[in-house]
Amino acid sequence: MIILDIKNLTLEIESNGVLVKALDKVSLTIQENEIRALVGESGSGKSLIVRAISGALPPQWIVTADRLTWRGQNLLSMTRAQRQAIMRRDIAVIFQDPLASLDPSATLKDQLVESIPQEFIPKGWPWQRRKARLRIAQQIMRKVGIKDVHAAINKYPHELSLDICQKFMIAMALVSQPTLLIADDPTRGMETNTKQQILTLLAQLNKTRNLSILFVSHDLIAISAMAHSMTVLYCGQSVESGKMKAMRRRPLHPYTKALMDSAPSFSPDLIPKSPLVAMDGTIPTLQHLPIGCRLGPRCPRAAKECVQVPEERSINEHKYRCHYPMHVESV
Ligand SMILES: Nc1ncnc2c1ncn2[C@@H]1O[C@H](COP(=O)(O)OP(=O)(O)OP(=O)(O)O)[C@@H](O)[C@H]1O
Ligand code: SF4
Ligand SMILES: [Mg+2]
Repeated sequence: MIILDIKNLTLEIESNGVLVKALDKVSLTIQENEIRALVGESGSGKSLIVRAISGALPPQWIVTADRLTWRGQNLLSMTRAQRQAIMRRDIAVIFQDPLASLDPSATLKDQLVESIPQEFIPKGWPWQRRKARLRIAQQIMRKVGIKDVHAAINKYPHELSLDICQKFMIAMALVSQPTLLIADDPTRGMETNTKQQILTLLAQLNKTRNLSILFVSHDLIAISAMAHSMTVLYCGQSVESGKMKAMRRRPLHPYTKALMDSAPSFSPDLIPKSPLVAMDGTIPTLQHLPIGCRLGPRCPRAAKECVQVPEERSINEHKYRCHYPMHVESV
């Protein structure tokens, strides 16, 4: 069953007197128990999608969509309070910059204890309830791999390392036992062991608690092992989406292929941590988008027809936007 349904989400903002489209008709769904990876180069619009879902965009953005629903309820037409209730109870978000999302004037304990839903606290005297809250807070901090919980819990965010703050954000997101976790590059910059620990925890929660996850990451290797499906974003457009297995085996879009070729585990002959090899050039700015296919100037398969915008097509559940897709005959 689909829990989050996004159809043709478009985000526009005024830049030097002109409206630019930072997201252009992006569609994406999350099923119950699904882990979906959201990937794309820096500047492709991943964080904007996260902010649009969570209602955390500044008012200057114009948001339109044919559908933006949570369990069938329209997120765009509901009141602020209704939306906040869903964000508090059902959908948890880890934003990209963990320090900016934490309250600098409150200790970790105060912030985490605040986020524990009332119904998780057993009935009892106030002092018993306070104790129970503290116990739950400490448990979840341990679970996400914070080592010296007793020392860290009474500190303010600025007194702690970025690594601990990142883990703490994950604890804050998980403490309400959400149905959907949206994680915007939560393991960025973490050392390999810690990253693996977090990914294992999330994969475990997906299996044991049916946690659905929208996982934004630059680390294709890490997420490809745990995600069931993937959406590839380029320049504010979804260029390919489908089941992870199928996309790994037979990517249809040249951009997906380039992303995969840049990740060593997809090409065994590359030594680990090789630099990006797969595509020349860089992502264009929103003010200077090429006509037709946005990948055109960088695409090795570009041909005459590519000056026309490619419409989204699909083969079964596998969707793509390209005039000259690869592997089509074998899908
Ligand atoms: N407030 C803003 N005003 C104008 N353009 C913006 C604004 N915020 C983001 N953008 C543009 O929207 C595009 C998408 O940005 P976004 O932050 O979503 O990228 P991203 O895919 O999350 O990148 P990264 O991987 O670096 O986090 C970029 O071109 C960015 O410059
Ligand atoms: S439409 Fe053309 S330019 Fe765009 S990805 Fe496909 S082949 Fe490349
Ligand atoms: Mg981002």
